[in-house]
Amino acid sequence: VIPYALALIVAAALWPLWAEARRAAGPGRRLAWRGLGLGVPVATFVLAGAVEPPPHREPTDRPIERMGGGDFASSDRCRACHPEHDASWRASFHRTMTQPATPERVIPTIDSLEFDHHGDRLRLERRGDRYFAGILAGAEGWVEREVVQTTGSHHFQTFWFTSGRGRELTLFPMCWRIDEAIWMPLDAAFLMPPEHRQALGGARWNTVCVSCHTTGPELRLRAPTGVDTRVAEFGIACEACHGPAEAHVAANRNPLHRYRGRLGGADPSITNPAELSPQRSAEVCGQCHAVSVERAALAERWAASGPSYRPGDELAATRIVVEKHRQDDPELRPHLERAPELLDSTFWSDGQIRLSGREYHGLVASPCYARGDGQRTMTCLSCHVLHRPTDDPRPLAEWADDQLGLGMRGDSACTQCHPRFRDERELVAHTRHAPDSSGSRCYDCHMPYTSYGLLKAIRSHTVTSPSVQETLATGRPNACNLCHLDRTLDWAADRLHEWWGVERPALDDEQRSVAASILWALRGDAGQRALLAWNMGRDEALAASGSDWVTPYLVELMRDPYHAVRFVAARSLRSVRGRDTPGYDFLGDPAARDLALARIVTEWSAAAPARRGHDLGRLLIDSNGGLRVDVVRALLAGRDHRHVYLGE
Ligand code: HEC
Ligand code: HEC
Ligand code: HEC
Ligand code: HEC
Ligand code: HEC
Ligand code: HEC
Ligand code: HEC
Ligand code: HEC
Repeated sequence: VIPYALALIVAAALWPLWAEARRAAGPGRRLAWRGLGLGVPVATFVLAGAVEPPPHREPTDRPIERMGGGDFASSDRCRACHPEHDASWRASFHRTMTQPATPERVIPTIDSLEFDHHGDRLRLERRGDRYFAGILAGAEGWVEREVVQTTGSHHFQTFWFTSGRGRELTLFPMCWRIDEAIWMPLDAAFLMPPEHRQALGGARWNTVCVSCHTTGPELRLRAPTGVDTRVAEFGIACEACHGPAEAHVAANRNPLHRYRGRLGGADPSITNPAELSPQRSAEVCGQCHAVSVERAALAERWAASGPSYRPGDELAATRIVVEKHRQDDPELRPHLERAPELLDSTFWSDGQIRLSGREYHGLVASPCYARGDGQRTMTCLSCHVLHRPTDDPRPLAEWADDQLGLGMRGDSACTQCHPRFRDERELVAHTRHAPDSSGSRCYDCHMPYTSYGLLKAIRSHTVTSPSVQETLATGRPNACNLCHLDRTLDWAADRLHEWWGVERPALDDEQRSVAASILWALRGDAGQRALLAWNMGRDEALAASGSDWVTPYLVELMRDPYHAVRFVAARSLRSVRGRDTPGYDFLGDPAARDLALARIVTEWSAAAPARRGHDLGRLLIDSNGGLRVDVVRALLAGRDHRHVYLGE
């Protein structure tokens, strides 16, 4: 505005002079003066416009993406020199973790939706290219806020609206489940006791989610204007893994430097996780893929400028990774007091991580990392590649799902370091299963599906060997019984002893006579039940164990008090039966649900004659092919009702 005002003042002051000069000039010159009279103001205004930056109104009610700032350069600046790396990153779910809520990025179609959420009326509306969340608040009518940001683009998408308190955001209580294309309450998306409510406000995005879901966050929690969070970039961008790169970009503007770089050798202006020591490399991922807290001495700095860790640093210098055996650590105690369920829910009793997305704990507890010897030390990059290599024929979308290297879903992930088992005879001698059997896959015995998150089981990232002893001590299902769902612990202990010389533990009557999967499904805690609900729908397990008998147990899990268990069980029953369960809504009215399930049980019972005479006692099926309801009830009465929280 100021340059325009100055231009006007100058023009006004010169006006009489100009008028005088024009009058004094001869008729031939008048035209020129007239032209000057028009040209000068126009030119002044154009110049003033160039001086004045375009009016820039930075919104004040949401976090700001600076696209760089400080030492950060932003991903936009890398593309020119690293187009391939840029392209694969663009296809990754890392990139789209945090995004502004625009029609291109919001996955569900939202015109005008209403939800009943624990008795509250909620609304989500699109107007033009903007989205609004509303809540019906008694006499006040609809209270409305703009939805400005999204989280997630793979399994879930969640939505954040402005809180009215600076740049703090509040989570909309309903989220979108992408594969099933349904809305569900966040309380159901995460595994938590049914009476528990997912925390939505209180600057959670700005204090919690921000550190793993963005790049270069500056929390600015105590700015004069309130919470004033800014990030170098939304999403997990180049510099989250390679470190701030302004210096690298500047250095490479110099062609000589670029030339030297192409000749090879590490570039000191940038971090390449593949060239760090195994520990430092794993920590690049561990800054987000672990449960950790900022060191107490850095608390002030954290509240202002965010986590201090930068790729290549030693993680422990700035953050403490939460581990069960550190529960008395004075730096951790205040955090554990605020979240007392953290240790008991997130970890198995022996300290193994139970929650997905926190794979760093699993890696560092694995012998392949802990007992590695430099060259042969497992890191995340032994199996994952964060950019699809140029000679990799897979479509980017296929690679982006789990970002595994080519062949790394199979045995090569292990035989790269344990080459002995590439030999088929060695393999069979080791696994005791046919070479192409699912029972011969390294992952399935050494990294079974015993972690849980985002409504599914994922592979434990702790390399272990099947052990009934460990199951007894921790409740964590062992790999043999997780695939051989129809077998008892006793059976597994026998085989493990006979084939691998593993010492056999003492077992009680039930453990000798009832299939282990049934004990976990009926008596286990909510986390164990969720794992079983998922594994009872897994093709490999059903092929090894038969699928008919799992129906009544999945039905029981579809009645579970935990929403998440019901959801996972319903999905498994669908894959067992090849069709939906008519009338069953995992969030619906319990009476209607029971009715729908009763029909499934009736159908299943009608097929009893086909089961008659088979030896199915360990599956609690009597000699007539029917379910031994009394035993099932007795087991249910012994269920572990402790509260379990496995939220993201
Ligand atoms: C002006 C060109 C240029 C720009 C812009 C640029 N780089 Fe580089 N970068 C290079 C050159 C040259 C090398 C060295 C040769 C190579 O590995 O390609 C390099 C190497 C790297 C390496 C490997 C270093 C190593 O030691 O192995 C990484 C990682 C990297 N750049 C990341 C980035 C990121 C992230 C950005 C954007 C913030 C970026 N680069 C922007 C030119 C550039
Ligand atoms: C310690 C780092 C960390 C923190 C803190 C964190 N997340 Fe995440 N989040 C992750 C990781 C890692 C994944 C991927 C997990 C996986 O794929 O199994 C993830 C995945 C998710 C997903 C699923 C994304 C998708 O595309 O399907 C949602 C939703 C989510 N987080 C929400 C949140 C919210 C809300 C917060 C804050 C209250 C939060 N997270 C805090 C690391 C974190
Ligand atoms: C989530 C972590 C992560 C993100 C995000 C990421 N990278 Fe990488 N990048 C890696 C890792 C790990 C490697 C080592 C090889 C691999 O895994 O693909 C790597 C390798 C590279 C290399 C090759 C270095 C060499 O060996 O010559 C370049 C260049 C690079 N990245 C640039 C980028 C650019 C540019 C972006 C953003 C557009 C980006 N990276 C985003 C983790 C990441
Ligand atoms: C700044 C935090 C951050 C860093 C650093 C990071 N990740 Fe992630 N990672 C996430 C989050 C958040 C997600 C969830 C994204 C999604 O799936 O929507 C995720 C997802 C993933 C996924 C699942 C992708 C999918 O959806 O299928 C893999 C695999 C992964 N990360 C591996 C790594 C590895 C390996 C490294 C280290 C080289 C790494 N990440 C570094 C935060 C991070
Ligand atoms: C030995 C190989 C191996 C190593 C080492 C490894 N992963 Fe994985 N990872 C896998 C496989 C295989 C999957 C796919 C699992 C599945 O099918 O559920 C996976 C899946 C994931 C996922 C996606 C989980 C989901 O929700 O689907 C994330 C995130 C992840 N890994 C992160 C990491 C991180 C971080 C590290 C290092 C701390 C790491 N992984 C080390 C093999 C590995
Ligand atoms: C990057 C190399 C590397 C990779 C990849 C790797 N390991 Fe290992 N593994 C090791 C090292 C090193 C040791 C410890 C030294 C030893 O006992 O040979 C080890 C130890 C083990 C042990 C324990 C041995 C014992 O005596 O207790 C098992 C079991 C194991 N690995 C299985 C696997 C499986 C299964 C995979 C694939 C999912 C795998 N490893 C992937 C390097 C690796
Ligand atoms: C059917 C289950 C099963 C499969 C499949 C399996 N293992 Fe094992 N593995 C075991 C058991 C059981 C042990 C011994 C446990 C013990 O001694 O406590 C073991 C031990 C090991 C050991 C340590 C002892 C040794 O013999 O060196 C390594 C390493 C290992 N396995 C690697 C692998 C690799 C690599 C694959 C895939 C090629 C694989 N395993 C497939 C069950 C399996
Ligand atoms: C991922 C699935 C899977 C895992 C894990 C697995 N198996 Fe198997 N197993 C099979 C399949 C499938 C068969 C059927 C024959 C075949 O394909 O080899 C089988 C067959 C068997 C048999 C012979 C048939 C029977 O039922 O008596 C025994 C014994 C056996 N497995 C024991 C084990 C033991 C012990 C473990 C753990 C160390 C184990 N299996 C782990 C899939 C698995």
